[in-house]
Amino acid sequence: MARKLRIAILGTGGIAGAHLRGYRNISEAEIVAACDVRADAVKKAAEEYQIPRTETDYRRVLAMKDVDAVDICTPNAYHMPMTVAALRAGKHVLCEKPLAITTAEVKKMIAARDKSRKMLMCAQHQRFVAPSLALKALLGGGTLGEVYFARAWANRRRQVPGWGNFIQKKVAGGGPCIDIGVHILDLTMHLMENFKPVSVTGVTCDKLGRNPKLMNQWGEYDRKKFDVEDFAAGFVRFANGAALSLECSFMLNEKDPTMRCSVFGTKAGAMWPEMEIIGESNRVLTDTKIAYTPKNAPPGHEQECRVFAQAVLGGDKSPVPAEQSLAVVSILESLYKSAATGKEVKVAM
Ligand SMILES: NC(=O)c1ccc[n+]([C@@H]2O[C@H](COP(=O)([O-])OP(=O)(O)OC[C@H]3O[C@@H](n4cnc5c(N)ncnc54)[C@H](O)[C@@H]3O)[C@@H](O)[C@H]2O)c1
Repeated sequence: MARKLRIAILGTGGIAGAHLRGYRNISEAEIVAACDVRADAVKKAAEEYQIPRTETDYRRVLAMKDVDAVDICTPNAYHMPMTVAALRAGKHVLCEKPLAITTAEVKKMIAARDKSRKMLMCAQHQRFVAPSLALKALLGGGTLGEVYFARAWANRRRQVPGWGNFIQKKVAGGGPCIDIGVHILDLTMHLMENFKPVSVTGVTCDKLGRNPKLMNQWGEYDRKKFDVEDFAAGFVRFANGAALSLECSFMLNEKDPTMRCSVFGTKAGAMWPEMEIIGESNRVLTDTKIAYTPKNAPPGHEQECRVFAQAVLGGDKSPVPAEQSLAVVSILESLYKSAATGKEVKVAM
């Protein structure tokens, strides 16, 4: 039987379930240990997914010789210290998004990766959902011509996640910009094939998130603890002259709140997740629908677990290069800086 990658999951809260279900369905990896500071949470996960060993201190997991890789599903503030410690312990790392809160943190993670010569991959699962895989494959053929602009939205209407760690800056690093903006920004830049941002201008607002009178579709949350933005918008310039606009919100008064992006080139535009190519053929304007709809496509999280394990076992490069995640985090950090100063900010990478 081919060797399986032996993985320990660190953090067994909300998103860990999507990863654990993913590993259960793939043949390339097995979960050999789990860790959470909450003993009850790790016990529950171990029972549900038949995980043989549990710990409440991740350093004890890193000392396990038969663990090849860790999958980090802890809140954002812990991504950097846990990743650096894991790489130093000789483990490959798959880490939830955002890879870290600041550019400086991501640089430390990349330095640790280079020293250890292990893999570092950010869990940007939106790259691995079926429509993204299909659109990416199609655009690889130069379908759009020269890409000069993209729009990215990650907007929710009155949907503040009151659970977990999404409304406190100390642990999350910010609000919708870093939480859901990171998904669509990463995917859009992936489709643009452009990870060379040079400057960002942005605004943020917290006018709705703290207001106790407003309803929230996802239930009550502690308004006094809410110290992140509820809305952010930004404009990114790239080294080749291309640009991108980004909108992210937990609470926008929007009729059609959604996560989507459009990428525009000199030959055609691409719409995700609508899966349409807007172009021209023989001087006739065309809206071409991509018939991607595979019946049994695995969920994005499962596919991301699979490509991570395959890449490690095959000695390949990270399916989500950490340098690309550095560009994404640099944009988010610059947007927050620009919002605080009211000025355009040069991206430091
Ligand atoms: N890709 C996605 O769609 C998606 C969705 C939700 C969350 N996330 C990301 O996943 C991460 C976790 O989010 P969540 O919603 O699962 O949060 P969560 O609070 O539900 O789970 C986090 C878990 O980590 C544990 N933990 C905290 N510190 C720890 C430590 N030092 N050692 C071991 N365990 C520790 C907590 O006890 C908790 O059980 C975040 O980075 C978030 O951005 C991704």
